[in-house]
Amino acid sequence: MTKRVLTGIKPTGVPHLGNYVGAIRPALRRATDPEHSYFFIADYHALNQVQDPDEFNEFSYVVAATWLACGLDPDASSFYRQSDIRETFELTTILSAFTPKGWMNKAHAYKAAVDANRGANEPEDAGVNMGLYTYPMLMAADILVFRSEIVPVGKDQVQHVEIARDIALRFNHTVGRDVLTLPDFEMPSDAEAIPGLDGRKMSKSYNNIIPLFATPKQWKQGIASIKTDSSGRNDPKVAEGAAVYEIYAALAPAEDARTMKAALEAGEIGWGDAKALLLALVEVEFSARTETYNDLIAHPERIDDILEAGATRVRPLAEALLEEVRRAIGRGGSVRRARA
Ligand code: TRP
Repeated sequence: MTKRVLTGIKPTGVPHLGNYVGAIRPALRRATDPEHSYFFIADYHALNQVQDPDEFNEFSYVVAATWLACGLDPDASSFYRQSDIRETFELTTILSAFTPKGWMNKAHAYKAAVDANRGANEPEDAGVNMGLYTYPMLMAADILVFRSEIVPVGKDQVQHVEIARDIALRFNHTVGRDVLTLPDFEMPSDAEAIPGLDGRKMSKSYNNIIPLFATPKQWKQGIASIKTDSSGRNDPKVAEGAAVYEIYAALAPAEDARTMKAALEAGEIGWGDAKALLLALVEVEFSARTETYNDLIAHPERIDDILEAGATRVRPLAEALLEEVRRAIGRGGSVRRARA
């Protein structure tokens, strides 16, 4: 039986090639049909960080347009905004009663903030809002409200999925019934991380990214600045671990990657040639997508239509789940409503 796959995307910045290879592409490979593939913009998770209203608004559109331009088919998956599913927030409140506070103390996003504060000789909770502290609870509600079975996430989010599972177990145990479905995480393999321009992992915080949507000139400038060793065109080179090769290999068909590797190792091509091949590939892969992206960003109402249609499609499931949860905790009134 096909399992329901769900993943949330936190709109806190502009996605880059590393996000494409590491998160977007593997998640989209899992898209089968709207019943079993759920993708959503986790805007209220982003609110913990992004509190300028214009920026908050813009990042949601940027991220939605990115996924759509990268091939998310709103007919082959359910694509919606977290904040459009009100049941999620009622479920968060209910689950908070079943969640030991100690679990939040141990959640890594919160712990990382505390460690940073200690290191800087600040009070432990400086700059920590309650949204960050209870982050895993909202994430648990996102997951459990749709009876998700598989949750593809990056390494840093695995613990949060485990907490969601633990909350579901504890809830079910307390009410004496299997009301909530236990989710499992799924991590993309390490092969799905790529280096950035300087050879470290591609990341916005290292300022070493290649943009997904750009002009050929912008891509060219970026790719030209990828760090290489000083070996000459005819020297045998080590392809593996070299950023140009690794990025190329992550995007190219396997056979083309093997060809580049062999040519570098044999000293048949230089780093400059490899960069030219990478540039050509990025142009092939992302020029049309850049057009689609720009078009969507110019028409945010189209993005709204897609996200609203997605929310409308999935909302009945969340409503049904909440009915069951309310009944399980003994909340009066839900029996009559369920009958009506
Ligand atoms: N916390 C995730 C991240 O930062 C985003 C997210 C929110 C999520 N809710 C989720 C991921 C539910 C998977 C399932 O990347």
